[in-house]
Amino acid sequence: MSNLRKEHWNNIYSSKKLEEVSWYQPIPETSLDFIINSEISKDEPIIDVGGGDSFLIDNLIKGGFNDLTVLDISEVAIERAKLRLGENAEKVNWIVSDIRDFNPIREYSVWHDRAVFHFLQEKKDVQDYYKILLEGLKYHGRLILGTFSKDGPKRCCALDVQRYSTGELSDFFSNDFTTKKTLNTIHKTPFKTEQAFSFIELIKN
Ligand SMILES: C[S@@+](CC[C@H](N)C(=O)[O-])C[C@H]1O[C@@H](n2cnc3c(N)ncnc32)[C@H](O)[C@@H]1O
Repeated sequence: MSNLRKEHWNNIYSSKKLEEVSWYQPIPETSLDFIINSEISKDEPIIDVGGGDSFLIDNLIKGGFNDLTVLDISEVAIERAKLRLGENAEKVNWIVSDIRDFNPIREYSVWHDRAVFHFLQEKKDVQDYYKILLEGLKYHGRLILGTFSKDGPKRCCALDVQRYSTGELSDFFSNDFTTKKTLNTIHKTPFKTEQAFSFIELIKN
């Protein structure tokens, strides 16, 4: 199952250019606003889960954050991001892993996930993600999560997506997290279509 997922994402990154995927954003403004407004210091560890070859990492490096990790199931995506970053790639810890198999060996201050959690359909996968998140995020660390909202697409790149309202996300994580901020926002794809997103910032209790 995990291998099929990996193959699926590697195929996408092997066959489509950077600007040919719906999630492309030259400046990931919403994610950056959440991270910068969280007022974490520049040397606190940040992980971008399912970061792919997103420009978030370029912008965080530019912003002076210096303990950065990108995890993705697709080594093709990671290689593309490294290539683009050139020497700056050495400033990033790269992890090729399915998030469901991730075994964090340290605790992060920020766990960012845009458009990855919503691909988890099975109850067990969602529960495993939650467990791994609790292990990988430090006390008072921030979870910054963006999923398709109830008005968002039902599928993305041929995969079904679980859509969430901000209230549902808040409730889902409420045993261990306090909601700090929620936002409904629209992502404009490179194909001039719109995708409705729910974003949420949660603080680990
Ligand atoms: C829709 S893209 C979003 C990429 C990036 N977060 C962004 O906002 O531009 C989903 C990303 O999650 C990765 N991914 C999908 N399922 C994953 C999993 N189970 N574990 C780790 N990464 C995964 C894909 O390879 C892809 O890079």
